[in-house]
Amino acid sequence: MILKAIVAYAENRVIGKNNDLIWHLPDDLKHFKMHTAGKTIVMGRKTWDSLGGRPLPNRRHIVITRKKDFRAKGAEVTHSLEDAIKLAQAEEEVFIVGGAQIYALSIQMIDVLEITEVHGEFNGDAYFPSFNSGDFELISQQYHPKDENHQFSFTFKTLVRKV
Ligand SMILES: NC(=O)c1ccc[n+]([C@@H]2O[C@H](COP(=O)([O-])OP(=O)(O)OC[C@H]3O[C@@H](n4cnc5c(N)ncnc54)[C@H](OP(=O)(O)O)[C@@H]3O)[C@@H](O)[C@H]2O)c1
Repeated sequence: MILKAIVAYAENRVIGKNNDLIWHLPDDLKHFKMHTAGKTIVMGRKTWDSLGGRPLPNRRHIVITRKKDFRAKGAEVTHSLEDAIKLAQAEEEVFIVGGAQIYALSIQMIDVLEITEVHGEFNGDAYFPSFNSGDFELISQQYHPKDENHQFSFTFKTLVRKV
């Protein structure tokens, strides 16, 4: 199984504020959908809550929480990252989709990072963890300018862990 993380972070690594995203970038949402459609996505309980407590279409959802009685309609609930990965072991590709706590738990295990770097610095309360960029090879990047539908410019980057 290949473990991927997909994230949109700002130049100061902010990913969210008040349990929500900071920007609305339709082409980044399309990019997220393109990568994760038909796949398994693993998320923290707060990110699950930020979805409004219901799953995104056409994806297997695994939610991590310490709450033993937590139920999430349309998702499988686990109590550790290790259990989440065990549940998804038979899958070809699994995406860690956040938030900050779950990225921090998993960053050392990630094989591929699908990053949307949003150009600018933002105030927030959730951050992507620091990682050693030297551990990864940048295999593609694509710039998206700001336009009438996108208030900020951004760059899609794919980083693959060096063997
Ligand atoms: N920009 C992006 O790409 C992106 C992507 C995803 C999320 N976000 C943003 O990130 C923010 C949410 O991130 P967050 O860090 O606050 O929350 P989170 O990582 O989504 O969820 C945190 C929760 O996960 C559970 N958890 C954490 N560590 C655990 C462990 N070791 N064992 C078992 N359960 C554990 C706990 O749930 P319980 O409290 O239920 O025990 C904890 O409260 C929001 O602003 C969201 O919009 C941004």
